[in-house]
Amino acid sequence: MLEDKNKKRKIGNIPYIYPIPMALVGANVHGKPNFELVGDLGLMGIKPALVYISSGNTHYTNVGILENNTFSINFPRTDMLALAEHCGTVSGRDEDKSGLFEVFYGELQTAPLIQECPVNLECKVMKEFSIQHRQIFVAEVVQTYVDDSLVEEKNGNLIFAELAKFDPIIYTLGDRYYRIGKSISVGNNRKRRKTRS
Ligand SMILES: Cc1cc2nc3c(=O)[nH]c(=O)nc-3n(C[C@H](O)[C@H](O)[C@H](O)COP(=O)(O)O)c2cc1C
Repeated sequence: MLEDKNKKRKIGNIPYIYPIPMALVGANVHGKPNFELVGDLGLMGIKPALVYISSGNTHYTNVGILENNTFSINFPRTDMLALAEHCGTVSGRDEDKSGLFEVFYGELQTAPLIQECPVNLECKVMKEFSIQHRQIFVAEVVQTYVDDSLVEEKNGNLIFAELAKFDPIIYTLGDRYYRIGKSISVGNNRKRRKTRS
């Protein structure tokens, strides 16, 4: 019955805004790349692209972000889950994570980008503040790198491949990871995009 289906259960102070794609946030700590798994991240603006990450204030990655005012956001594919989880459970204070990935550098020179990840955002910190036990880093995206197989240019527009081809790791409550499904619309998104800034 409809009423039963829509009946609500109060579950308390639970951040049910999932699904969220998991990212490996990279920073150079004392000249060496370090990566942590981050799910608490998001968009703050589109033009220019503005993002934020929320990172525990004791995390080793934060040391590097504060040192250089730069970091990277790298989205691993589902076949990188084991490595991603490793970066989410082991701290760079206890283990050197610099050799886990092939690293390249972009325009900022100090934000380590992961070659194996199909999408990389190179970020410059604009604002940092602490809240509860987290440090929030708001950053401008200075460059975005995408695997050549996932994007093409047609008449000056970027055409993005189906997300299934990108294959990001999607996380939700209950420590569950998912793979992305099928696209349900193309046309409407294009119309909307023109009205966004
Ligand atoms: C699925 C998952 C999501 C996580 N998301 C975050 C997050 O959003 N923010 C955060 O501070 N830590 C998050 N962590 C924990 C860090 O990745 C973890 O503490 C890491 O070891 C910190 O590494 P570091 O000390 O080398 O920076 C997450 C871990 C997992 C497994």
